Amino acid sequence: MRTLSGIQSSGKLHLGNFFGALQQWIELQDQGEALYFIANWHAMTTVRDATLMRSLADDVAIDYLALGLDPKKATLFRQSDVPEIAELFWYLSAVTPMGLLERAHSYKDKTAHGIAADLGLFSYPVLMAADILLYGSDRVPVGKDQVQHIEIARDIATKFNALYVKGYDPADPEGKKRGNVPGILKLPAAFVQESTAVVPGIDGQKMSKSYGNTIDLFADDAAVKKRIMSIKSDSTPVEAPKDPAATPIYPLLKLFATLEEMNEIDRTFREGGQGYGHYKQQLLELFHKRFDAARAKRRELEHDRSYVNEVLKAGATRAREVAAPIMAQVRRAVGTS
Ligand code: ADP
Ligand code: TRP
Repeated sequence: MRTLSGIQSSGKLHLGNFFGALQQWIELQDQGEALYFIANWHAMTTVRDATLMRSLADDVAIDYLALGLDPKKATLFRQSDVPEIAELFWYLSAVTPMGLLERAHSYKDKTAHGIAADLGLFSYPVLMAADILLYGSDRVPVGKDQVQHIEIARDIATKFNALYVKGYDPADPEGKKRGNVPGILKLPAAFVQESTAVVPGIDGQKMSKSYGNTIDLFADDAAVKKRIMSIKSDSTPVEAPKDPAATPIYPLLKLFATLEEMNEIDRTFREGGQGYGHYKQQLLELFHKRFDAARAKRRELEHDRSYVNEVLKAGATRAREVAAPIMAQVRRAVGTS
């Protein structure tokens, strides 16, 4: 079983990244082989400054290690250290119908939020398909917003296999029936934790660095406090019952609280008697309880850049080893070797 995932290094990691994706990555590194990467090529659709590109990718590498991704268990690498991804991207582009990309939500959402519509943003699902298909990945742990991209990767893989593999039957992708041949590109499955699939931001929309509504995992104490205290709420008086759907405080508390703590939160929301300020303070405390160890580890790792670089270098070597036999088949199939 091979697990693969990545996060764009286009900003700081936030609670949505953690509960939507990283928490699952940490669990899955103990189950079979895991490859986790820093999607710095993806970040280029929004980051246009070389110094910033470098430092954001370095930051994400340190964040991964601080949060508990373990180079002894998982292969950790930077996307740009694996040139085969760009090569596969092109082979896949050549078989990807425009209509498939025109239907992608993320492109529509991002352009609706004012991000320029360029070819990179449009073809981003093809680059993501290359990231996944290059290693024969079985499962891809992500938040809900990425599920459509994994479906697109499956569609592109099917198209590629159907075009280039004689005897491939799309209804039998692993070639189990007699006479059928398995595809060169394996069909991946999305792995989504339903309870944390969409983490809300402080304004109630999906938490996203593009929307400026994040609570960052590694911001300094004062900044974390400021963000939590500015979570949207309404003017319901302290003594009145409160509607859990009226403020993102409730779903955010749910990410951290134990069952017992949550029962108490439910009770006081129902009965009234606690103001939003109280719940925000509780969220702040739970945040620190959960992340302070990782935050301390991060401060240590910042002084050990050579270790971080070594991890990434070894990771890229391993990732390219995994990719090599698959790329050899792909090149033979398309006729570039
Ligand atoms: P952003 O939207 O902030 O740019 P990314 O697109 O880089 O975040 O997301 C990286 C990973 O974190 C993906 O697997 C994504 O599904 C997950 N993720 C991001 N935001 C959220 C969220 N608000 N809720 C759940 N998962 C999320
Ligand atoms: N597109 C993903 C995001 O914005 C990041 C990503 C790039 C990714 N390539 C991937 C995730 C491959 C999983 C697998 O979060």
